[in-house]
Amino acid sequence: MRMRRKPWTEPLLDGCPYLVNEPQAQRGRWRERFADPGLPMELEIGCGKGVSTVRMARENPGVNFVAIDEVRHVLAVTIKNAEAAYAPEPVGNLALSCVDAMFIRDSFGPEDGFRRLHISFPNPWTVRSKHEKRRLTHPRQLMQYREFLAPGAELLLKTDDGLLFADSKRYLAYCGFEIAYETDDLHASGYAPNYVSEHEALYSGQGIPIHFLIARMAELPPDFRWEFDGRRLDNIDRRENPR
Ligand SMILES: C[S@@+](CC[C@H](N)C(=O)[O-])C[C@H]1O[C@@H](n2cnc3c(N)ncnc32)[C@H](O)[C@@H]1O
Repeated sequence: MRMRRKPWTEPLLDGCPYLVNEPQAQRGRWRERFADPGLPMELEIGCGKGVSTVRMARENPGVNFVAIDEVRHVLAVTIKNAEAAYAPEPVGNLALSCVDAMFIRDSFGPEDGFRRLHISFPNPWTVRSKHEKRRLTHPRQLMQYREFLAPGAELLLKTDDGLLFADSKRYLAYCGFEIAYETDDLHASGYAPNYVSEHEALYSGQGIPIHFLIARMAELPPDFRWEFDGRRLDNIDRRENPR
């Protein structure tokens, strides 16, 4: 469900003090963006319109949040949501940026040390197997995330897609993440606090159960190899990117 570019988005994006326009220049220095750089850091990839992002950030002032999406103009909706939720206070503990997660290691480094990584309703890429590597939970991605997550950090994944969920558990195990919590019906599970995202509301409204897991980053398995399903994990060809 792609949002069409609207004329009001550019002025909002241009004037937003917490939108980071040069994320690569911020690599390893994201915490300096915030009023209190000593707070724990959390990252969301593919935040979309930021429905859950903004609630999570607003209700957790003791955490600094960075939320990214590869589509810049969708972040204008996140800005609108944030302004409404924080008013009359300034948006203090949230930074936004347009980053393609396929090349995320260019924008985040070990010094950023995120304690949590949120991925909600990523594109499942289930139609053609050759597109599997574009999944935000593919080992090629997880090995990039390992570089900027703090030791013991948690990855939180929500999806309506059972196949993506099952495959993601396989990917996580391969890359040294241990499942700490999982449910195939988040809304019946009693898990709290749960910040409902735009797509989560959409799917659960249709009676579709939500798969959810928390995986903790541990040591890489001793037999780990930089190869998965016959493909190298460390060469990301920019021409592979669909956009
Ligand atoms: C289905 S939407 C989910 C949005 C939101 N997380 C939710 O749960 O409602 C997927 C989002 O991921 C973003 N996305 C997809 N691939 C991405 C990538 N490689 N890097 C960053 N964002 C990406 C899309 O632009 C879109 O906003």
